Amino acid sequence: MAARGTGTAGTSTGWYPVARAAEVGTRPLPVGAGGAAFVVVRLRAGGEVSAFPARCPHRLVPLVAGTVVDGRLQCPYHGWRFDAEGRCVDIPSLGPAGTPPPRADLAMPWAVEERHGWVWIAPERTTTPSPPRPPADVAAGPVPAPPAPRGPVFGNLDPSLKHAWHPVAMSRELRPGGWLQVRLLGRTWTLRRDEDGVSASPPASGVRERFGLVWLAPAEPVDVPLELPEVSDRRFVTGWLLPVRSPGPAAPMADTFLDVSHGPFLHAGTVGAGHARVDSQDVHHEPGGFTGVQEEWFDNVTDPEVAAGRRPLRQLCRATYVYRAPFQLCLRLTFPDTGAATTILYVLQPEDADSTRIYTRLLLSSGPGQPLPTPATVTAAVALEHRVLEEDRALQGVLATTGLALDLRAELHLRSDRLGVALRQVLCEFGAAAQVRRAA
Ligand code: FES
Ligand SMILES: [Fe+2]
Repeated sequence: MAARGTGTAGTSTGWYPVARAAEVGTRPLPVGAGGAAFVVVRLRAGGEVSAFPARCPHRLVPLVAGTVVDGRLQCPYHGWRFDAEGRCVDIPSLGPAGTPPPRADLAMPWAVEERHGWVWIAPERTTTPSPPRPPADVAAGPVPAPPAPRGPVFGNLDPSLKHAWHPVAMSRELRPGGWLQVRLLGRTWTLRRDEDGVSASPPASGVRERFGLVWLAPAEPVDVPLELPEVSDRRFVTGWLLPVRSPGPAAPMADTFLDVSHGPFLHAGTVGAGHARVDSQDVHHEPGGFTGVQEEWFDNVTDPEVAAGRRPLRQLCRATYVYRAPFQLCLRLTFPDTGAATTILYVLQPEDADSTRIYTRLLLSSGPGQPLPTPATVTAAVALEHRVLEEDRALQGVLATTGLALDLRAELHLRSDRLGVALRQVLCEFGAAAQVRRAA
């Protein structure tokens, strides 16, 4: 018999058969009991079955995407680990000496038991101490979707988004004399390029080109444009990633881009390994957004001066995140040891409720007095960034959400999540500003 939990508020009493015992192994299996979603899993091969709520309390990632590591269930996004009683026993971003707060513990079902060849869950305290013998035709109930976040969410069809500039195509996708159909905020727009420039149909408040992209504002915009001085700085060369589509809304994708602690887990196969956090610094609020700085130590295995013994392998990377609502983001990576700099422009087109097009432009500099990065260097950087983006995009596919939770009580925010908290606050402010403009 497994330990008794506290019960999951809002679910039903009684025992529910949720899966045949033989079906449950060391990979989380989604199940439903009394209308609530859970995952069941064995934290050791052949061991007892544990039942967990469907989402991680941190950023609400479905725990069906979790893995069993050292007898614990590990969330894929930031590596939080939960024991069989649902206690959060490890939060890597707190460092080796950090202690997870009790509110990181999972709200567990009251009981889970394996009996009569079935796994049973009692979501709430029940007066029947053990599961009943099931009838011959017993079947598991339906598996509900993981619960929606508490409170409002910011999705791709939020009415405020009409009042912003959005990227809708790369400039080179719209040839002279040509036309292009694009999706934005659940509508189709036709772009045309003629001798007078770019126009849109149906008519929009504005159409323009900036940073190598075509931008469209459906209604009078209230957003503050991002500045990108590297575009006209001759020490930088550009590499574009091919635009890709994310199967989810833009705001959670922006949240992932601003998230400073998922690297060692989501990007373990690319840029995540060998990084150690130094500290998060303050967030500076600015008109329409904010800037945040983060410093990390990393092993610079590609620096030839390291191979020659003239520079240490362990080097500092200063990451400056600049955000402007709703979906303009820029990450400036500077490397004080070498003087090199990489800027990543990252802007999102909210096409439909469940579709976002992502534009990524890299701007690379070798540093003062150094030759420009070679085409081979740019190609390699674009290829690496593409793999990193694919890892972030894969996460969006499992999030199962209609938008970003705006109520800060819907998730659990730690010190390392300050940029994410600022994102949620700025999106609320942006929504309010757009509402004022709508009413005017
Ligand atoms: S550890 Fe689960 S979402 Fe962050
Ligand atoms: Fe990422």
